[in-house]
Amino acid sequence: MRNKTIPCVIVLCFLFACSRKTAPEIPARTGTTRSIDVSATLTGDAERGKQLFGSSCKRCHGLPEAGQFSKSRWEAVLPSMVQKAKLEPQEAADVKEYVMTRLIK
Ligand code: HEC
Repeated sequence: MRNKTIPCVIVLCFLFACSRKTAPEIPARTGTTRSIDVSATLTGDAERGKQLFGSSCKRCHGLPEAGQFSKSRWEAVLPSMVQKAKLEPQEAADVKEYVMTRLIK
């Protein structure tokens, strides 16, 4: 019995962790440098990016605002986030285009 309870509790913890509904509360960054640019050679479509952003970027945390972070911080974090969201390279370029055109100047 004990052997089944522990994995069960772990699975429940993960489910709970991913189902938070309050927005946009984003955990603090631990790492600093993320330099792979998945969308460097593609031209993004901001409109499609907006939809992808709204649908795929709030699964693990609240939906961030494009203006919430600086350009350099977005450039550092987006490559890892589009990977987490399992976006295609074109979709990643779209999301990047959306974020970059919505930055607070
Ligand atoms: C599989 C879960 C997951 C998905 C999907 C996801 N994120 Fe994240 N996100 C995280 C985690 C975990 C952190 C905090 C740790 C880190 O920075 O890696 C985070 C942090 C962030 C941050 C804060 C970075 C900082 O510098 O403080 C931003 C901005 C962000 N995500 C944007 C996005 C965008 C945009 C998408 C959609 C393309 C996305 N996330 C999809 C898990 C996810």
